[in-house]
Amino acid sequence: LARGAGGQDLAGRHVVVSAGGTREPLDPVRFLGNRSSGKQGWALAATAAARGARVTLLAANVELPDPAGVDVVRVSTALELREAARKAVADADAVVMAAAVADFRPAEYATGKIKKVDGAEPAPVVLVRNPDILAELSAERAFAGQLVVGFAAETDDVLANGRAKLARKGCDLLVVNEVGDGKAFGRDTNAATIMAADGGETVVAHGPKDVLADAVWDEVAARLG
Ligand code: CTP
Ligand code: CA
Repeated sequence: LARGAGGQDLAGRHVVVSAGGTREPLDPVRFLGNRSSGKQGWALAATAAARGARVTLLAANVELPDPAGVDVVRVSTALELREAARKAVADADAVVMAAAVADFRPAEYATGKIKKVDGAEPAPVVLVRNPDILAELSAERAFAGQLVVGFAAETDDVLANGRAKLARKGCDLLVVNEVGDGKAFGRDTNAATIMAADGGETVVAHGPKDVLADAVWDEVAARLG
């Protein structure tokens, strides 16, 4: 793995990373999901462990082998991720929400498989909002100085959207990716701007996801003091 200048600069720290994408069940065989591969979250967990941190990886529907030396907690839905995150962050120095959390879930779960009915159109699927886990973790920090980091995939005016989202979420850092045209999703490379609530902006050129992960930990380590 590529290393930040700090070597073991996260030794003695506990960091929590969420990865993958939540699935919101509709019935026993169907769900609403998204295309997040989990690779960026995996890279964040592996690089933090290599820098000496104790790492808890909250993995939502990711089919990748567990990174070495990392505690992996598997979850599926946004509500499960929220519960796992609340537990894991109690003593965490930093939490990075790299998971793609479904904004909505079906209002009702059908305990039996939804069947076609002859001659009838299907009933519409009613959705309700999921909690905003990142905003909650930011507002209800386990202790003063706990760092909260979000990710955002944006199109159009990427930087302006990122700034507005950083303010809305109340987190310390927001890693803003430009998406569209096959950028980011499922790929091994990423480019991003790491925006800080204190006004800082660090541009990370297009490259392997470990390089972006190390750049995120550089920003975290600099603020942990
Ligand atoms: N996030 C979260 N809980 C949600 C939705 C998003 O914790 N219910 C987190 C993601 O893990 C990510 C960040 O918030 O770190 C930004 O996600 P994004 O989908 O870009 O933000 P939204 O507020 O959902 O905005 P949008 O309407 O653009 O999807
Ligand atoms: Ca969203």
